[in-house]
Amino acid sequence: MFSFLKKPKPNKVTVTSEARELFVAQDKTLLEAMLAEGMAMPHDCKVGSCGTCKFKLLDGKIRELSPSALVLERDELSAGYRLACQALPRSDLTIALDAPLLSQQAVKNYPATIVAATRLCPDIINLIVELDRPLSFTPGQYADLSLPSIDGPRSYSFAFAPKNGSAKQLQFHVRHVPGGAFTDWLFGGERLGTQMEVAAPYGAFHLKPSKAPMLCIAGGSGLAPIMAILQEARALGANRPVILLYGARTKAHLYCLDEISALAADWNAPFEFIPVLSEESPDSPWEGARGLVTQQIAEIPDRAQCEAYLCGPPAMVDLAEEVLLKAGVSRHAISADRFLDRSSAR
Ligand SMILES: Cc1cc2nc3c(=O)[nH]c(=O)nc-3n(C[C@H](O)[C@H](O)[C@H](O)COP(=O)(O)OP(=O)(O)OC[C@H]3O[C@@H](n4cnc5c(N)ncnc54)[C@H](O)[C@@H]3O)c2cc1C
Ligand code: FES
Repeated sequence: MFSFLKKPKPNKVTVTSEARELFVAQDKTLLEAMLAEGMAMPHDCKVGSCGTCKFKLLDGKIRELSPSALVLERDELSAGYRLACQALPRSDLTIALDAPLLSQQAVKNYPATIVAATRLCPDIINLIVELDRPLSFTPGQYADLSLPSIDGPRSYSFAFAPKNGSAKQLQFHVRHVPGGAFTDWLFGGERLGTQMEVAAPYGAFHLKPSKAPMLCIAGGSGLAPIMAILQEARALGANRPVILLYGARTKAHLYCLDEISALAADWNAPFEFIPVLSEESPDSPWEGARGLVTQQIAEIPDRAQCEAYLCGPPAMVDLAEEVLLKAGVSRHAISADRFLDRSSAR
């Protein structure tokens, strides 16, 4: 049949600070289009709540999925800053960015099948999905998983470092969020063979080239990208001391213990693993650390000289960052990844 309906024309976006142009389809956000072009635009949440993806709109019109005013300060708004993850270009645009962008792998879509889903602990599943072709990514990055039956994608960090930089089978540590559409579904029955779509790679959390001791702080499934980064460091022959602080609710919620022991045994420098339990019964024979994982930071000698990698629930990461800054760790020596979800969208 003949259609008289013309597909709307994509808008041209000129990024003056990068001397670069890209085209954005009418139904794509500016952030989606930049990532698809391999431009490493910073972003944490993609739902308009963190403010990381701000850009300066110099000319042109956008429609906002949620108002930038909910996140950005008044002076930023009057200077023209807006959120790329919430901006649908409605004309050709001219924009500028505050810092130069690195280039990274372009985000692409991959048909995928669930090939394994096994419990690691009461509320975390080790999810393995197989793609139709290999995907290249940097340990610390994440993927968006989409099921046709659930509205919108869900973000999960790669829980491993790929050999030779790419992999066809992907591993994720998925924590159950009660009341969450995707995780209620995943934890609710046998899911092997389910088809989904994976969009990746996203994110800028990664191992930095440094000789400083590494202080890794993870909460719950926040261990996933930390394991990936540590595996990469080991493969590169890193010769830096590591302290891994891991916060879990109870002893039963500790997982990956064998992998952590293997990593520590194979590490070229001292490797200390400190699990910290927040809800272990006072009657339990547990003799390790108790309380919030962030309380242990004060116990670490020479902590101001460390390079920190933080990952897990946003409140834990915020607190860890605050404690580290107060302890004299430079802001540049802190890398953080916050596991935001829809409850943090404003
Ligand atoms: C970059 C990144 C990497 C991540 N990596 C991991 C990982 O490796 N492992 C991991 O376990 N998690 C990870 N997360 C978190 C993970 O994406 C979320 O836990 C997941 O999206 C939850 O999906 P869900 O469908 O189960 O919950 P959702 O349906 O998205 O709901 C999440 C929570 O929000 C509530 N909610 C839903 N809609 C709204 C609304 N409109 N307003 C207020 N509250 C609402 C729900 O009741 C529920 O409590 C990551 C997050 C990010 C941003
Ligand atoms: S990525 Fe856009 S506000 Fe968080």
